[in-house]
Parts: sequence; structure tokens; C-alpha cells
Amino acid sequence: MKNKITKIKEQAEQEITEIKDAKQVQDLKVKYLGKKSEFNQILKGLKDLSVEDKKVIGPLANQTKNEIKELLEQKEEVLENAVDAEKEWIDVTAPGKRIKPGKLHPLTLVQNQIEDIFTTMGFEIADGPEVETEFYNFDAINMPDDHPGRDMQDTFWISREEGRKKGTGTVLRTQTSSVQVRYMEKHKPPLRIIVPGRVFRNEATDASHEHTFNQFEALVVDKDVNVANFLNIVETFFTQFFGKKMDIRLRPSYFPFVEPGFEFDISCTNCNGKGCSVCSRTGWIELGGAGMVHQNVFEAAGYKKGEYQGFAWGFGVDRLAMMKYKIDDVRLFYNGDVRFVQQF
Ligand code: PHE
Repeated sequence: MKNKITKIKEQAEQEITEIKDAKQVQDLKVKYLGKKSEFNQILKGLKDLSVEDKKVIGPLANQTKNEIKELLEQKEEVLENAVDAEKEWIDVTAPGKRIKPGKLHPLTLVQNQIEDIFTTMGFEIADGPEVETEFYNFDAINMPDDHPGRDMQDTFWISREEGRKKGTGTVLRTQTSSVQVRYMEKHKPPLRIIVPGRVFRNEATDASHEHTFNQFEALVVDKDVNVANFLNIVETFFTQFFGKKMDIRLRPSYFPFVEPGFEFDISCTNCNGKGCSVCSRTGWIELGGAGMVHQNVFEAAGYKKGEYQGFAWGFGVDRLAMMKYKIDDVRLFYNGDVRFVQQF
């Protein structure tokens, strides 16, 4: 019996040195350590041996089994390390993989440029929430609950309770003008800010309208500010933005938070004023509204009525980007097609 065990051991050692892969390790584990292995037969057969033999053979069989087990585990480890080394091997002569660089969205490019131009003119950049209270979006800027001016903007309401306290509803802001009173509550004139941001209107879309778009608001407040200052600033801005002198058109218009109010147009650079789908065949692009800040707005912000003057505007950033890059459909900005973004 002793001889048998020694033989098995020798044979196992021999076979283990010849192992080449993990599968062979598994096979030998089954062969030498498994249920049907010779060792198990021997251990099972112990009960038939004499007491003296049991004392010798039992421990010997167990010890040999453990030795073989250890050898197999060592082999397994060696094989695993060998595989790892192969995985970690680096072919320093292989050609590099091309990494596709990301691109900034054209709206981001335009917003960055707008911010650059205005900060060099001494403006600060301010910010406000996209989900806004009814108060800041409407009431505070001279558009109380029953004001017909609210009908000018189709609004996405988040909450609007019956019998509510005034101004406590929640909306997706329809205009960056919502930041005017927010900002003035915390800052005293003189102030010059622009507020770039996303706004929302619950309306049908076409080549020149989206339910989600971007504006940038400007607000300039001081003791003595007038429309001529406003014109000078916008002319400087457009000349820098387009790199050439632009035709600008002001039309009298109405916005509850300004008096007087204007609609602001620039000549369409997509068709050079001839008329195209971007400008609805008029040759002009309506960029937004502007005007002298209504005293009621100053009052809502806690300023004394009549103490300050200011002007404000809200211009469409998407329209500017369309002009700049000759894009003829505003919906392209939001459809998530990387082929579109890759072009800028
Ligand atoms: N908030 C107005 C709009 O979205 C634009 C505007 C801003 C008009 C500031 C006047 C002054 O249409």
C-alpha cells in the first residue's frame, strides 16, 4: 500500500511538471484529488486495514494528497501569472489609436463670445434658475396675475394652485427678464449685467421657433442712463460679434416691464436681406425686445421710484448663432446629432 502511494505521488509529480495550461490543472485535480481518485479509494478502504496499517497509511495518504494539492496550486499560480504578463505586454511599435476630440456646441461658442465681448465692456455675468417662481417671471416685472401681457408668452406651468397667494406658482421661465428683480434685490446701482440662459415657451416649433431656446438679458441701471447709451452698446456688440457693421432696426413695441419698449431687429446675414426661411422672407431677424426699465420694476426690487434709470433687453442667442454660422433651422441645435456639432 505504501508503495502504491509513492507510485501515485511520483506519477503525479511527473504529470504536473508536464502541465501546459489551466485545463490540464483541472483535469489533474479531478484525477488525483477528486471523489473518484485513487487516494479516495485508499482512504475509503482504510476501514478494512489492520489498526497498525491504518495508523501508517492513513496519515501518509492524507499527507501525499496535500502535497499533490499544493503542487497543483503552485502550478496554477504560475500559469495565472504567465497569462497576466501576456495581457500586460505592450507592443510599443503598434500605431496609436485616434482619439476623437469633442467639440463645443455652436450655442456654447456663441455664448462664450457674447460673454467675452460684454465682460471687456465692464459687464458682469449673472445667473438665475430655469424653474422660476411666477413672481420673478411675471409679477415682479410689472405683469401681475390678470395682466394681458402674460398672454404674449405661452407658458409651461409647473404648478398653479387655485386660490393661491399671488405669485406663488412655478413656471419654466419664459424669459431671462426673470433675473432682473432677483439680481436688483441683492445689488445696488450702478449695475451692468448680462444674463445668458435657457428659456421655454409652450408653442409649436418650426424652422425659426423652438419651445426651448436661449436668450441673453442685459440690464444697465444708473442715475442717468438713456436710449442713446443702449444703442451705442448694442452697435459695439454687433460690430464685434459679426466683425462688420450690422444694420439695426428698432420698432416701437410693448413689453410690460419697459417704457418705452422696442422690438429689435438686425439684417439677416443668411440671405443678406433678400429674404429666406430664417428671416421668414422679411430680410430682418427679430432678435428680441428692449426698452427703458419701468419704474414699477425698480420698485419691486426695493429701489425708490424715480431714483434710477436703466435699460434692458432680451436677445435670442439661437438666432445669433444661426446668423453667424448660416444655420437655417433652429431645431438642429437640439436634436443631438453629433454630425451637426462636429462641423463647428
Ligand atoms: N423678455 C422679453 C422677451 O422675452 C424681451 C425683453 C427683455 C424686452 C428686456 C424688453 C426688455 O420677449
